[in-house]
Amino acid sequence: MVGMETIQYNLPQSQIPLAWYNILPDLPRPLAPPLHPGTLKPLGPDDLAPLFPMGLILQEVSGEREIEIPGEVRQIYAQWRPSPLIRARRLERALQTPARIYYKYEGVSPAGSHKLNTAVAQAWYNRQEGVKRLATETGAGQWGSALAMACAFLGMECRVFMVRVSYDQKPYRRALMETFGSRVSASPSEETESGRAVLAEHPHSPGSLGIAISEAVEVAAKDPQTNYALGSVLNHVLLHQTVIGQEAIEQMALAGEEPDVIIGCTGGGSNFAGLVMPFLGRKLKGKGHARIVAVEPAACPSLTKGRFAYDFGDTGHLTPLVKMHTLGSTFIPPGIHAGGLRYHGMAPLVSHVIDLGLAEAVTVQQLEAFAAGVRFARSEGIVPAPEANHAVAEAIRHALAAKAEGKPRTILFNLSGHGHFDMQSYIDYQAGKLENYDYPEEEIAMALAGLPAVGWGRE
Ligand SMILES: Cc1ncc(COP(=O)(O)O)c(C=O)c1O
Repeated sequence: MVGMETIQYNLPQSQIPLAWYNILPDLPRPLAPPLHPGTLKPLGPDDLAPLFPMGLILQEVSGEREIEIPGEVRQIYAQWRPSPLIRARRLERALQTPARIYYKYEGVSPAGSHKLNTAVAQAWYNRQEGVKRLATETGAGQWGSALAMACAFLGMECRVFMVRVSYDQKPYRRALMETFGSRVSASPSEETESGRAVLAEHPHSPGSLGIAISEAVEVAAKDPQTNYALGSVLNHVLLHQTVIGQEAIEQMALAGEEPDVIIGCTGGGSNFAGLVMPFLGRKLKGKGHARIVAVEPAACPSLTKGRFAYDFGDTGHLTPLVKMHTLGSTFIPPGIHAGGLRYHGMAPLVSHVIDLGLAEAVTVQQLEAFAAGVRFARSEGIVPAPEANHAVAEAIRHALAAKAEGKPRTILFNLSGHGHFDMQSYIDYQAGKLENYDYPEEEIAMALAGLPAVGWGRE
């Protein structure tokens, strides 16, 4: 049809990236090393061996710029990759903005989000080293579903600790994981020492990612056949997500565009890093000029209100200490519906990039996030995951700023997942039951007061 507007910028299967992109060698300063939770000295690869396969540990500390994607992983990626880049023309018109809005849509993965990019890779490297079972935590259920599917594809067992509030809010996510063959428990559970310790103090605890991580790590540490898998935060997880940004660079070129701003929501930092790091690497080499914006919930503001310090990754203090923006490992965030953003810390790599001034961070309240999600659904037809609504809200802010200035700008954001299993939160929103949460200043101050005293990495 003559005069049809292009909506999707798609790549052929042959353009699924051949390698993941590691930005570390391109950054002006190295990352602070992770520390052993017992000795508080920098970790060696062997310290991580009880939890992770060596293939992933080597990626965690790698200084290589490119890490080849194994053929079988790339083949599984082909079930849904390359994911589409979509121009949100209908949203642009609804907002009457001169801005051009693009989104990379990761909700086309069978599990519903970007999490499958790393789930497949992690399961593959574990299976290579003979591991039979993976234990993990899940907040929103997106990560658990992704790992459950990856394990089903690679013939492994999967054990998931699902944060209590999400377990209650999202029974269909649990059913999806069980359909893929995983065993799912509400966290805190009676099945681990860490879970029992929390329940003894808070019998009605809503749970948190920090608690669920402790439970999964404990299960993995005690069973030689079981390894632990983490859905975000660690370098190797962020690395696997860089297929998103690499594809997006090619797709923006197809559209003949250079982004002025690139946006991602941040829970542990993986979908944000996956989209932005390839663009940032390019910018550090003088190509492109985009502002890079991380969006976090006002109720759990690790990047904007947290401290950049060494802290534990979990509530039970079983994990190594990493230098990151943190609200304190004992902070239990309010029960916002964006379960995947309820984490006290942030990826060390994302924290580092913010600290270097290479990216900025903003917060969005729950009601603004859902208003944006509904607006997006009505014009683009996709109901975003509550986490992704934070990125949509920030994209809309930029589009409206462009309108106020009367100047065009090119906006790119990561629509990290769909919200088809999160409809209860939309029901609650439409019924006026959702609320904004104030920044829980006192609780955060208390949690930060308990930060471990560490000699390393002091500014
Ligand atoms: C759809 C979606 N987006 C974003 C996130 C936040 O995680 P991350 O910051 O690692 O991308 C999650 C986490 O569960 C998620 O499910």
